[in-house]
Amino acid sequence: MTLPIRPRRSALYMPGSNARALEKARTLDVDCLLLDLEDAVAPEVKDLARNQIVDAVTAGGYGNREVVIRINGLETPWGEDDLRAAIKAAPDAILVPKVNSPADLQRIAHMLSVYGAPKNLSLWAMMETPQAMLNAGAIGACGKDANVRLTCFVMGTNDLAKETRARLSPGRVAMTPWLMTCVAAARAGGIDILDGVYNAFQDEEGFAAECAQGVEMGMDGKTLIHPKQIEPCHAAFSPSEEEIAWARKINETFDQPENAGKGAIQVDGKMVERLHAEMGKRVIAIADAIAARAS
Ligand code: COA
Ligand code: MG
Repeated sequence: MTLPIRPRRSALYMPGSNARALEKARTLDVDCLLLDLEDAVAPEVKDLARNQIVDAVTAGGYGNREVVIRINGLETPWGEDDLRAAIKAAPDAILVPKVNSPADLQRIAHMLSVYGAPKNLSLWAMMETPQAMLNAGAIGACGKDANVRLTCFVMGTNDLAKETRARLSPGRVAMTPWLMTCVAAARAGGIDILDGVYNAFQDEEGFAAECAQGVEMGMDGKTLIHPKQIEPCHAAFSPSEEEIAWARKINETFDQPENAGKGAIQVDGKMVERLHAEMGKRVIAIADAIAARAS
């Protein structure tokens, strides 16, 4: 199963308890909305947050933004109610926190079918526990199991720092092996992956550097906590004009009759193989999808 290409450059979290944020989300130029019932919501207002999210998603008005509800874990007092409410609200996806193993996703997928969730409702998985880092390959492989409906990983770097005691320092040297393991696990499972949040949302320079690092790692986009992070995030995760032009050029060159039988050619002094043309096709498809979104 190959998933359709969908821009997921930016995914903005907002607490379900914050009605103003849920309203503002309808006007923000963001690819995905992560409507949160979990970490960003205090226990005293879990019920309020759930009701507000259901009302907001049911009312709609989110246009082509992908709407995702993050529920509390099933082991908490709120998880089952969240899951039932989320199914009723019918977002694009449900984000499952603190996934440790494939069984955690299989259990929720089973409940989706028991509760009669629509077929196009997918699951996203928070990758944020030490167990998940050790089981990343098996969790990612759920992307190949249509019954589980897994389409995206979301790195939970704050929880990962808490649980492992590794530091989230500039450059993220301690996190890098886990981030890259999860990138490999996502690709092996044929799904997308979004980078963790950058907490210091006033630090523009630090944020830009971390976005650039995420791009280099192969992340499809980044999770965000504040609207001011959206624009610089899109700048980093959208293919540049140069990348698009290069992608078109190498594909056009391979398409010329004299190159029909060739596996490797020279373009502007560089060796280019058919795999580069394939990579270019993806760049063009993403750029087209972004342009289609904007119009
Ligand atoms: N989503 C939507 N709108 C948001 C937002 C968010 N995540 N964060 C801020 N805004 C809005 C505010 O409502 C405000 O709108 P207004 O001026 O039109 O009323 C505007 O952006 C400016 O907000 P600002 O005053 O700079 O921030 P704040 O002090 O109100 O909030 C945070 C700061 C960190 C509490 C807030 O950004 C937030 O809750 N972020 C998300 C946290 C979260 O979900 N974490 C879980 C995953 S890590
Ligand atoms: Mg978390």
